[in-house]
Amino acid sequence: MHKLTEASRHPCRAVIGGSGISVPQKVLSNDDLAQMVETSDEWISSRTGIRTRHVTTDGESTAQLATEAARIAIADAGLEPAQIELIIVATITPEMVFPSTACFVQEAIGANDAWGFDLAGACSGFVYALATAGQFIETGRIRNALVIGAETLTKITNWKDRSSCILFGDGAGAVVLTSSQDPDSGLLYSYMGMDGSGWQYLNCKAYGSRFPAYKPLEDPNLIYMSIRGREVYQLAVRRIVESVKKCMEACNLDLGQIDMIIPHQMNARIIESAIKRLELPADKVFVNIDRYGNTSAASIPIALDECRRTGRVKKGDLVILVAFGAGLTWGANVLRI
Ligand SMILES: CC(C)(COP(=O)(O)OP(=O)(O)OC[C@H]1O[C@@H](n2cnc3c(N)ncnc32)[C@H](O)[C@@H]1OP(=O)(O)O)[C@@H](O)C(=O)NCCC(=O)NCCS
Repeated sequence: MHKLTEASRHPCRAVIGGSGISVPQKVLSNDDLAQMVETSDEWISSRTGIRTRHVTTDGESTAQLATEAARIAIADAGLEPAQIELIIVATITPEMVFPSTACFVQEAIGANDAWGFDLAGACSGFVYALATAGQFIETGRIRNALVIGAETLTKITNWKDRSSCILFGDGAGAVVLTSSQDPDSGLLYSYMGMDGSGWQYLNCKAYGSRFPAYKPLEDPNLIYMSIRGREVYQLAVRRIVESVKKCMEACNLDLGQIDMIIPHQMNARIIESAIKRLELPADKVFVNIDRYGNTSAASIPIALDECRRTGRVKKGDLVILVAFGAGLTWGANVLRI
């Protein structure tokens, strides 16, 4: 049995009790995008692995997707909403500037004994949120937490910029983290990092306090996501590899002990490069970017839910969730399912 240095310190373990997802009904294909900008299905699928993505229509919002995913996850865990004590919504496309999206979810599901907040970790948001919720459970402070990744990135997408608009989709994934006394199950370790000097590579500048809504923008495109794809590509590969290696070192794991890596779905080629460097076989890495695109904080919980439901991960499996995103931010969680 491997040594679980960090996790074994805690009396309670945070295990995944249930999961759920919600995506908008509307699907946008690469051919649809080719009608909007100069691109092609061939270019998009060969450079990114994406074929279709779900997109919200007017009136569909982040809290709606988060609420639907949360309801499914709570039912899957066999709990009542009143048993949820903490709600963390990882998002960079919240329902409003304030109150938090977590407040809208709490009211909609009737989690009357919960407190909560939004966590802006961009594409690493779910990994950060899982580690954060895990701490409250591991210390015995709470028994059940709802951890959601929910995004409507298409609301801040520049549909005239072909290098970015092909990448993103909308959706939400939720898990219920619940307390267990089994010392070798649940969240075993988390490794996280950030480097704010890379904020210029990926951002959406307006509207915040630097570019407030009351002041006309010199560049109207500041309301959209801006990405420097080529630079991000290299950094993402490096940080994903580093995060997985740090987890393996901390938990004294070798490659053969990992049953599945669930990476943030940002680009199939980025995932392939990272996995090649880690010398992992392709069947130990889960990829569903072809159907969802990059849904930022929602991508890992959507993938994790699919893995659970299709039997790609089973009880007892050792799984690593790993992400990289704007900030720059990165990190990984080691989980025994
Ligand atoms: C964006 C990304 C797919 C671009 O792929 P790439 O192989 O690096 O492509 P490049 O940026 O080098 O562009 C190559 C050419 O394709 C063109 N191009 C860009 N988007 C295109 C599109 N949708 N369709 C057709 N051509 C396109 C470029 O203009 C460029 O043309 P040029 O050589 O004449 O200048 C890739 O860099 C990526 O996925 N990066 C990370 C994405 C990211 O930041 N995600 C969010 C973080 S989680």
